[in-house]
Amino acid sequence: MKVTVVGAGAVGASCAEYIAIKDFASEVVLVDIKEGFAEGKAMDLMQTASLNGFDTKITGTTGDYSKTAGSNVVVITSGIPRKPGMTREELIGINAGIVKEVSSNLLKHSPDAIVIVVSNPMDTMTYLVHKTSGLPKHRIIGMGGALDSARFKYRLAEALDAPISDVDGMVIGGHSDTGMVPLIAHATRNSIRVSEFLNDEQMDYVVQETKVGGATLTKLLGTSAWYAPGAAVSGLVQAIACNQKKIYPCSALLEGEYGLNDICLGVPVVLGKNGIEKIVSIELSKDEKAKVAASAEGVAAVNALLNL
Ligand code: LAC
Repeated sequence: MKVTVVGAGAVGASCAEYIAIKDFASEVVLVDIKEGFAEGKAMDLMQTASLNGFDTKITGTTGDYSKTAGSNVVVITSGIPRKPGMTREELIGINAGIVKEVSSNLLKHSPDAIVIVVSNPMDTMTYLVHKTSGLPKHRIIGMGGALDSARFKYRLAEALDAPISDVDGMVIGGHSDTGMVPLIAHATRNSIRVSEFLNDEQMDYVVQETKVGGATLTKLLGTSAWYAPGAAVSGLVQAIACNQKKIYPCSALLEGEYGLNDICLGVPVVLGKNGIEKIVSIELSKDEKAKVAASAEGVAAVNALLNL
């Protein structure tokens, strides 16, 4: 299994690190445009191999896509991250050009690869890859819901005063502060609905903090987060590499599912060796359906800015 990660910034490097630590891939190639940067990150990470006990070979290149040839999975993290006070949507102008060029370079050398899009605004960048690459829909996956769900579980565990391993929950909808739909009514503590433990006010707090999870970190860090995004990507890559058939919420092209068409939005999918093996349709309440519809409207408005 060869994986390429484009963008050796904080998210890309964390992503390479977690993939290596989980030790399921033979090779990870880091690509960056900044001279020597990906090579340096790769070398530093390789010098952790004997300490962390992995055999994955990590290499870096300054923009030489021939080194990425034959990748099974490619991850696009490149583009500018948000600064405090910025929305993910404000990045569209610069990042659309970058994502289009990067995906075309990658697919020239790895025509059979499964593409994972991380660059923001992620749902729109995923849609852009669909519109410009000609790849079948099961091979284009947007990473947002896996991260947002991890943040949801963090907030649930905090509110429940429970260990994370006791908690389960999922966030669907767009990967934006207003578009996320944390499915609180479906969230459980060891298969017991969380409403058995939390009052409405506590549940509203969990939902609200989940939705602004990325913005909270951007404010604290001065740039967007990297550990949880990197770990979330590594989970998706592992599900594909090891044909795990795990369910993660991912941004997928919808063709009628959830009553939506011609849009990429976070929905639960089964991930396996072919990428998206299946979109899972779950029964939503009237209120949840309305939230997903509003989220889709927001993403569609950003998609319109692509002028495709
Ligand atoms: C975040 C970025 C990766 O939510 O979108 O931290």
